[in-house]
Amino acid sequence: MLLEALTSLLGPRGLITEPADTAAYSEDWRKLYRGQPRAVLRPADVGELAAAVKICAAHGARIVPQGGNTSMVGGATPSADGTEFILSLARLNRIRAIDAVDQTLTIEAGATLKAAQTAAEAAGCMFPLSIGSEGTAQIGGILSTNAGGNNTVRYGNARDLVLGLEVVLPDGEIWNGLRRLRKDNTGYCLRQLFVGAEGTLGVITAAVLKLVPRPTEREVALCAVPSPEAALALFTRFHRNDPAAIQAFEYMSGLGMDFVLKNIPGTTLPFATPAAHYALVDLATPRPQAGLRAAMEQLLEAALEAGDIGDAAIAESEAQRAAIWRLREEHTEAQKREGASVKNDVSVPVSKVPAFIAEATAACQALMPGIRVVPFGHMGDGNIHFNLAQPVGMDGAAFLARDHAIMDTVCAVVRRYDGSFSAEHGIGRLKAYMMPDWRGGAELAVMQRIKAALDPAGTMNPGKVLP
Ligand code: MLT
Ligand code: ZN
Repeated sequence: MLLEALTSLLGPRGLITEPADTAAYSEDWRKLYRGQPRAVLRPADVGELAAAVKICAAHGARIVPQGGNTSMVGGATPSADGTEFILSLARLNRIRAIDAVDQTLTIEAGATLKAAQTAAEAAGCMFPLSIGSEGTAQIGGILSTNAGGNNTVRYGNARDLVLGLEVVLPDGEIWNGLRRLRKDNTGYCLRQLFVGAEGTLGVITAAVLKLVPRPTEREVALCAVPSPEAALALFTRFHRNDPAAIQAFEYMSGLGMDFVLKNIPGTTLPFATPAAHYALVDLATPRPQAGLRAAMEQLLEAALEAGDIGDAAIAESEAQRAAIWRLREEHTEAQKREGASVKNDVSVPVSKVPAFIAEATAACQALMPGIRVVPFGHMGDGNIHFNLAQPVGMDGAAFLARDHAIMDTVCAVVRRYDGSFSAEHGIGRLKAYMMPDWRGGAELAVMQRIKAALDPAGTMNPGKVLP
């Protein structure tokens, strides 16, 4: 009866049950989880989506909302028992409005991040969130997971870039909070409850995003640096000079770069000698004649004299800029090609990044000789992807079987620096077990009460976020 009701609501295009067709929705991007959905629901608009949620609620059926399915933590994968419905947002992909004066974009949840960026650009603006999976990741998922990415140092996380939301609640009611106000001080900030909730409190169906003026000057450099300490000194140098010009400041290890150069065809370093560590500096401004090039050259010159960098290449064209960024963005894929890996998406205060990298490296090498340590990421905001690749020749499954021991080893160092065990990837299924230890007591109890109040039947994305 449940399936019949959903079929008559959604039609054949809106409901998929054949295992061959549901397979692509059933496994996470990292291939850590393979589930078996009862069906994949693909509503065409918010009205259909709300009606489908209402039908599911009446039957106590469980729902796993899914965007681009690029979660790093199994946040959008169903259980294996065939009882859960995947709710795909893919067909809700319209741009509803854009306003270049208000600097706002009203967009549906199933539009890709790339589509949002492109729409903003066409209006002479920029949507400044940028992540490696932006061609596939969708706005609903970006907001539900409070994605961070490369430009957090300047523009904040997804949470900081949303003015309004439209949400379908677990009982199927639609909350239209698509206000585009810069000031709206009217009680609890409900939209921020759904941002980062990973679909456990309702389904985000549309959003009003904040835009910024499109940069007119941009300078990107790749620097060879002798140590993470030197990379931090370089960041401080740029930050003191003009924090508003830094669009991204990324760190990469020598080993991580070796993986990229070895595994990703067409990648090369822009200077002759490989380095022990690298920093990527990306400056951008909408201000005309801002002199970014001169600032970049002067600061790099001073860093060279101080010994904080050994070499540097400033991009001379859009193609060179893209090539430098590619060396950074292909880190994830290059690591995948080196075999099994355990990811630790962690953050510490920016000033502690070098000490954290040194201590966590030593701790992991002591735990498992031969383990390959590949830290990289968003040094400018303190978020390091402290990823570990399996020792050469080790069985991948045997390596992954030790994932909790590895994560616990890294997290023990994170804790010493009062950091976070999940900086930007969220909790999903992978890290739900860590919540009592890290967020236990009043914090977790309040989260559980919020969950019980909004989703008393526990049907929304079960098993994610909360243990
Ligand atoms: C990135 O910033 O490239 C991803 O969030 C990191 C990862 O693959 O762990
Ligand atoms: Zn990242």
